[in-house]
Amino acid sequence: MVLDELTHPVVLAPLAGGPSTPALAAAVGDAGGLGFLAAGYRSAEDFGAELRELRGLSAAPFGVNLFVPGPDDADAAGLRAYRNELRGESERVGAEPGEPRYDDDGWDAKLALLRAEPVPVVSFTFGCPAPETVASLRATGAEAWVTVTDPAEARIARDAGADVLVLQGVEAGGHRGSFSDADDAEGYGILALLRVVAGEIDLPLVAAGGIADGAGVAAVLAGGAAAAQIGTAFLRAAEAGPNPAHAAALAEETATALTRAFTGRTARGLRNRFLDDHTANAPRGYPHLHYLTAPMRAAARKRGDAGGFNLWAGQAHRLAREAPAGEIVRELGEGARAALARATERVGWGE
Ligand SMILES: Cc1cc2nc3c(=O)[nH]c(=O)nc-3n(C[C@H](O)[C@H](O)[C@H](O)COP(=O)(O)O)c2cc1C
Repeated sequence: MVLDELTHPVVLAPLAGGPSTPALAAAVGDAGGLGFLAAGYRSAEDFGAELRELRGLSAAPFGVNLFVPGPDDADAAGLRAYRNELRGESERVGAEPGEPRYDDDGWDAKLALLRAEPVPVVSFTFGCPAPETVASLRATGAEAWVTVTDPAEARIARDAGADVLVLQGVEAGGHRGSFSDADDAEGYGILALLRVVAGEIDLPLVAAGGIADGAGVAAVLAGGAAAAQIGTAFLRAAEAGPNPAHAAALAEETATALTRAFTGRTARGLRNRFLDDHTANAPRGYPHLHYLTAPMRAAARKRGDAGGFNLWAGQAHRLAREAPAGEIVRELGEGARAALARATERVGWGE
């Protein structure tokens, strides 16, 4: 198990859409955490090039993450109405909406790449691959990790042959990893999910969602997790590649909210103009909405207009700090040890 070899119980979340870089994954791995490379939104060719770059930068074990394709079930009338609704935003940022369309994010090509060039860990989000797919990757020597957001998904992942479950609480930044994008926005918080799944399923559990400092890591370790998977707290790392306006916004005391407004799939981001104006009417329809809003979001990013694009962030975003990723990993690990020692002392008070 790769998890048993880590110096610090810290997994870098795969961060698709810009922040994920080979340098970031290498820095986390070299510091004794587990680095991850996000394959989402990239072609198999580009992803393959990043994979080779990472192998050249670091000899530490690492993981890669794939989006599991979902059904093409967007409602055409809903998409048209949403396109009309975006007219004002489109004029404001000076970019036309894009053409909504379905694709499977290069699923077969990426799987073929990972069979040809095996990696230590492959994690999945947005669904559970078929047992044969899991078995074919495990046959290359890879561990298969599946992201789940409730106990029913955890059972499906276990039955498909997953080696590790990544439990994602509703506090998490970015997309919900749920198998279907149902209207159950309440969702499990990470501690509740961890305890409920730990009581039922005998697999190593990695906990994600709103964990951004050592004490947060300690909390999920005490709850039975083998490690914490952390996204937002790495978005300001020196090696990460986010937009500067996004990185700066994380430090503000801005509330986060769940929304389908940017991509048609529920995700958590900082509240901003686009999110507040369009969450109410955004239909379900990933990846159609992703392609519909992409040119407008790109234009807003270019202008440094933080109101006009997705600022993915978990609930603890204000704890993210600017530092080299290796330093963040060490602080998280050492902070967890210190917090667990303090907690142990506190438990002794009553004696
Ligand atoms: C900018 C961003 C991009 C993300 N991209 C992915 C991804 O490509 N694949 C994935 O499984 N999870 C992705 N996530 C979710 C993380 O895996 C993780 O669940 C989340 O970051 C944990 O919550 P935190 O951000 O509060 O640490 C992303 C999160 C963020 C903030």
